[in-house]
Amino acid sequence: MEPFTAIIPAAGKGVRLLPYTANMPKTMISVAGKPILGHILDQVESVGIKKVVFIVGYKKEAILEFVQSQYPHLDVTFVQQPEPKGLGHAIYLAKPYVSGPCFILLGDTIVDGNLKPLVDGGKNAIGIRAVQDPSRFGIVEMKGGKIVSFEEKPEKPKSNLAIIGAYSFLDAAQLFDALEEVIRSGKTVKNEIQLTDALSVLLGRGVEIVPVEMDDWFDCGTVEVLLQTNRLLLDRHHRVPAGLEKENKIIPPCWIADGVKAKNCVLGPYASVAYEAELTDCALQDCIVGPQTKLTKKTASHAVFDKHNQ
Ligand code: G1P
Repeated sequence: MEPFTAIIPAAGKGVRLLPYTANMPKTMISVAGKPILGHILDQVESVGIKKVVFIVGYKKEAILEFVQSQYPHLDVTFVQQPEPKGLGHAIYLAKPYVSGPCFILLGDTIVDGNLKPLVDGGKNAIGIRAVQDPSRFGIVEMKGGKIVSFEEKPEKPKSNLAIIGAYSFLDAAQLFDALEEVIRSGKTVKNEIQLTDALSVLLGRGVEIVPVEMDDWFDCGTVEVLLQTNRLLLDRHHRVPAGLEKENKIIPPCWIADGVKAKNCVLGPYASVAYEAELTDCALQDCIVGPQTKLTKKTASHAVFDKHNQ
């Protein structure tokens, strides 16, 4: 089989994360020591994918700079989505750059588990998870272990099984063809061309798509959820570079990136600090510090800082 190409739609703004998204796209917001996009690219690499197509739009420069400086070894293509016409439209824009199998991971999807069952199963597959508020998501209806329908953000959901935003397709051409049918039909949900509707087209054509249950999916839609996700991930991954403890007091769990400069600080519990940040005389607990953020004499609890909000 040809190698998989990853498609990462990351054109969205993330209005619910303002003011942090005033200067960067949602996917560049940090959690647990790196931007959401860093978690996504680590996942993509962990399943052996080296070729990535990004769909970019809002504040795309931040994404380009991050990918080129932190993931220079990946084979990357950036495609501009000129207008926010929806996820289905964003994915369709990748058509000229993708053949063979493809793996889609949405730009705001953090999965802290093994994605191999999605790409190694030899079948078209989507990640799902039971949620409490299904009408906020794409929903799958199952019968006898098989998916029998898909619906995007239904008012009356037929199940509580949400599409988490990780999809793999053995033949990208088949997906693009289904998307083309949705686009031609003029169908939209909430005014957007939906990827979920292309899944329905595939199902109608008899194409099998298997559900893969994912326990470790984190949605980072609001600052409150972002801080909660940070705490959950730090409980699993305490990480502090050697040497940092000499000049600072570290209270676990923390996630501090290599190369972070910190002096005379009390960090943690639940402090995450991303690459090239510099902290002096700070006391931070339950905080997220984004890349290249410089903080001096800052005492904070339950807060998010980045280089534009410091
Ligand atoms: C998108 C998809 C939806 C999926 C969700 C997961 O919606 O359209 O099917 O359940 O991601 O986060 P969005 O969050 O972009 O509105």
